[in-house]
Amino acid sequence: MKIGLLDSGMGGLSVLHEAFHLLPDEEYIFYADVDHVPYGTKKPEEIISYTTDIVDFLIKQGSDVVIIACNTATSVAIEKLRKLYDIPIIGMEPAVKPAVHHSNSKRVLVMATPVTIRENKLKTLIDRVDTEHVCDLLPMPRLVSLAENEMYESHEAFDYIASELKPYDLSKYSELVLGCTHFNYFKPIYRKIFGDELEIIDGNNGTIRHLAEKCGLKIDRSEREIFYKNPEDVLKYPKVSYFASGRPITDEKMLTHIKTLHNRLEEVRSI
Ligand code: DGL
Repeated sequence: MKIGLLDSGMGGLSVLHEAFHLLPDEEYIFYADVDHVPYGTKKPEEIISYTTDIVDFLIKQGSDVVIIACNTATSVAIEKLRKLYDIPIIGMEPAVKPAVHHSNSKRVLVMATPVTIRENKLKTLIDRVDTEHVCDLLPMPRLVSLAENEMYESHEAFDYIASELKPYDLSKYSELVLGCTHFNYFKPIYRKIFGDELEIIDGNNGTIRHLAEKCGLKIDRSEREIFYKNPEDVLKYPKVSYFASGRPITDEKMLTHIKTLHNRLEEVRSI
């Protein structure tokens, strides 16, 4: 099966990386809209227009199913996309439900982009599942460019996250929901600031399992490591092609970027 994935940028690689683990025998097309990143501070109409063009493109490239590997695009565009296209369109939303379920009366911090936090989709989800009112919402827009620039180990990233978390009494939180696919790269920083007890929850594993269920695909349980040695290896396994705003990615610089990001995602996967 040919699976198309899209994101505003390289955050969606965290979803693709999980798909490589769980469904290594499928074929993938990954579209990063690098010309328009970030989406999380743009107007909904703009995001809807970009995403519709990308889904068109992915379908023309032969996708049998499309994953919107972006919480922001899902929150504003998923309903329209599902009306427009016949193929399954899988969306992503912050994993608030499992977080509330695991929280055991402690608090849940949901980090996402400003658009995701403003939109009704997240509000409706929280109204439905957060009956004890344990969720707090925190927009973290700067993490997107820090991830795009591979600055997940930088002082800037640490200081930004630490200063945004300063107003919170962190001992009250047992769950951190990563409501943006770009936020995965920073897991060691959250762990360092919150400590070992915190559960960090993203929607990646759940999204791929949902896709497998919907499309009748069998989950691979072999749990091997996925690290890339050379830039060109990222095009060799599993079967995948990468596009930057419609342009095929084949140059050494971008392949090295993708290699570095996949290797980072493998490193932080079990944190
Ligand atoms: N990675 C995206 C998300 O999951 C969007 C980030 C952005 O472009 O602002 O929300």
